Amino acid sequence: MKWHVLRPLWVAIGLIGLILLSRQFIVPDDFGVHGKNFTYGYHRLSNIQEWKDFPVKYLGRESCIECHEENVQMLNASTHVNVECENCHGPSIGHPDDNEFLPLNTTRELCLRCHARLDYPNSDRGELLSIVDRRHKRRSKCTRCHNPHDPTEDMR
Ligand code: HEC
Ligand code: HEC
Ligand code: HEC
Ligand code: HEC
Repeated sequence: MKWHVLRPLWVAIGLIGLILLSRQFIVPDDFGVHGKNFTYGYHRLSNIQEWKDFPVKYLGRESCIECHEENVQMLNASTHVNVECENCHGPSIGHPDDNEFLPLNTTRELCLRCHARLDYPNSDRGELLSIVDRRHKRRSKCTRCHNPHDPTEDMR
């Protein structure tokens, strides 16, 4: 074979060899120990533990009952029953021990995330009641008139 064909061939073989060699050092020991029928062997055993150790930030409303029973009961009986406390108050990890107060966000933006009328034909015919920001009591906080834990309350 000619040199100009052979030379790149050697370079390619060298590169593959280098990759195989470095793989010995880089790939962790517990990679693929599950055998081939578990994600084709492409799985690191310690990854399972890493996800188990991943801190849970959202605890759900059951965890609030102990101290905020009234809020939970009110929410559960309201049309906001499907909205989680932590959707509005943020993750409750460490609350109240390391994090005494969860934020009370009273901006219109908090509510408009879900209630803003979107610019497409059926936006106001879905199950989520929507308003047009500019036309619905501008410049007032939503919470002045609507109780976030029971939004029907003051509409009647
Ligand atoms: C172990 C008791 C405990 C648990 C459980 C708990 N809280 Fe609290 N929370 C407190 C205390 C104590 C405060 C401090 C102010 C107070 O006394 O209202 C507080 C304050 C708050 C505040 C701020 C109130 C304010 O007036 O500024 C919010 C919002 C809140 N909690 C939401 C939650 C949510 C949501 C959960 C469940 C995911 C939760 N809390 C779970 C005890 C608790
Ligand atoms: C739709 C958003 C929303 C949801 C869902 C929600 N909150 Fe609130 N919450 C607010 C807002 C906004 C305020 C502040 C109201 C104000 O200051 O007028 C507030 C105030 C509070 C307060 C302080 C005043 C009070 O009423 O005691 C506590 C405690 C609280 N929320 C706990 C909870 C808990 C527990 C849940 C779940 C059962 C929950 N919230 C669900 C938006 C929400
Ligand atoms: C995560 C989404 C979400 C957020 C955030 C949210 N809502 Fe709602 N809201 C809903 C859903 C779902 C319903 C029930 C379906 C409906 O009536 O549109 C609802 C219902 C309502 C209703 C109609 C009540 C009725 O029974 O007719 C009002 C008013 C309302 N929300 C006000 C608010 C206000 C004020 C805020 C902010 C403090 C807020 N919402 C934040 C999802 C949300
Ligand atoms: C000044 C008082 C006031 C303020 C502030 C206010 N609302 Fe209302 N809202 C009402 C009243 C009264 C109704 C019922 C009559 C109507 O539809 O106008 C209502 C109705 C609604 C409805 C139901 C609409 C429907 O089609 O039935 C939603 C959703 C709503 N408001 C969300 C919000 C949100 C989100 C904010 C803040 C961005 C907000 N409101 C601010 C008084 C208020």
